[in-house]
Amino acid sequence: MTHAFNKLTAEEAAALINHNATVGFSAFTSTAAPKTISKAIAARASAEHAAGRPFQITVLTGASTGPSLDGALVAADAVRKRTPFQSDPVMRKGINDGKVQFVDMHLSRTAPAIRAGHFGKVNWAIVEACAIDPDGTIVLTTSAGITPTIVNQAERVLIELNTYHPAALRGCHDLFEPVYPPHRQPLLVNTPSDRIGSPVLRIPPAKIAGYVECSLPDEVGGFSEPDALTQRIGHNVAEFLVAEIHAGRIPREFLPIQSGVGDTANAVLGAMGQHPEIPVFDMYTEVVQDSAVQLMRAGKLRFASTVALTITPATAQEIYQNLDAYRDRFLIRPEEISNNPEIVRRLGVISMNTAIEADLFGNVNSTHFFGRTLMNGIGGSGDFTRSAWLSIFTCPSTQKGGKISTIVPAVSHVDHVEHDVQIIVTEQGVADLRGKSPSERAAEVIEKCAHPDYQELLRNYVTLGKGAHTPHTLDKIFAFHQAFQTEGDMRKARL
Ligand code: COA
Repeated sequence: MTHAFNKLTAEEAAALINHNATVGFSAFTSTAAPKTISKAIAARASAEHAAGRPFQITVLTGASTGPSLDGALVAADAVRKRTPFQSDPVMRKGINDGKVQFVDMHLSRTAPAIRAGHFGKVNWAIVEACAIDPDGTIVLTTSAGITPTIVNQAERVLIELNTYHPAALRGCHDLFEPVYPPHRQPLLVNTPSDRIGSPVLRIPPAKIAGYVECSLPDEVGGFSEPDALTQRIGHNVAEFLVAEIHAGRIPREFLPIQSGVGDTANAVLGAMGQHPEIPVFDMYTEVVQDSAVQLMRAGKLRFASTVALTITPATAQEIYQNLDAYRDRFLIRPEEISNNPEIVRRLGVISMNTAIEADLFGNVNSTHFFGRTLMNGIGGSGDFTRSAWLSIFTCPSTQKGGKISTIVPAVSHVDHVEHDVQIIVTEQGVADLRGKSPSERAAEVIEKCAHPDYQELLRNYVTLGKGAHTPHTLDKIFAFHQAFQTEGDMRKARL
């Protein structure tokens, strides 16, 4: 379909963005991220700085982006504030060096926060599309993130028309924005494949400042193949889920799965696919990675509701060439819907996310090393964990060649609290925290999940605090972390 919107170069589009602008970009785990306009904004920032003028913007996205957006903008010192999630090494450094003010947020709360004005007026929405209709309707590409919200909130919109993605993606999205309470209605997603919204996004034509054409794949890297350690973790999760079926706590037809990001999460999904006693299942999740597509191909994954197809270019090509076979197998939704607590609780989602560290009582840190240094962000892990039927966290029992125990007396940063975390899994085993008091939890975590090198130290810690409801001893609470910082090895903790 032809349309009459202004065709711009990336540089012309970037010239429209002013210093101090708040810019919402479509992007979620590097998918659907504008790549040419963002790089042109970075170049504009560098030119402004060279001319002695300030140029920085606030960057709002669905989640992480790739080197052409977060990386390029931070390298040009063009980002003042950023939310809600990132995983780009240049952005991470900018945040940890104190140059970028980063607001780490639950993804389901990001669109409501933007609507409520917590990040000020949204001046621009820059969104990737694979088709533009004459009336300003667009078809999104590989993710929906916060895109409906930024388009609706922004004063003006720029479209990056990326023809790498086929216009035949029309129909693969389910876009919906809830109205303000108290007029909100139930979100009637009763099974992962139920639709509640529109397949396309309508933009008032007067808002569209123009479009820039390109043909570029998403900047999604591959993941490491599961190794013996992550396979062991995956096996432990799969065995645990099968035992739950036998115990009648998971129905035989199974429950929808949410699976987190990273190598461990990939290995867990792989192990579930291989286990003969795990039935064919659905996903109600925010990220579909290559491993999920493999499960689809193998017939183990029936349907996936997701925010993003976070797939490598090779997998994207396979899907695009066989889109008719895949189109009824997935649905791309905004994160406010895919991570919505109401739906997650109703569907009985089994959430599986990865921890940086977990403590003896079930508190989990997903985001910070030693309470200070940000890794990625909480992402959707909190949205799913609190409302899940069954909430699981996985991690290796040690990191850095055994010098760091991921099972610690107290986490150095809290993302998920003991009231929400039910199951912790390492390669050592499975700690089931349900129905257990703090002392009982501590014993379970030490005996089932901690690495043998650390079990005695952790038992000593609990003995020191014996008699209390939660057996903490405040002057020893960070003994593990301090031992690593002073002596380079948590095994040297004095307990
Ligand atoms: N202390 C210090 N370093 C640690 C650590 C700890 N307790 N735990 C992990 N690390 C380091 C690892 O050594 C590794 O470092 P390297 O890159 O230098 O080798 C790095 O962190 C990544 O660890 P890895 O075990 O490979 O993690 P992963 O790929 O499985 O990802 C998270 C784990 C927690 C970083 C990732 O899942 C995440 O960002 N989660 C938060 C968001 C989320 O859960 N979203 C879910 C909804 S999609």
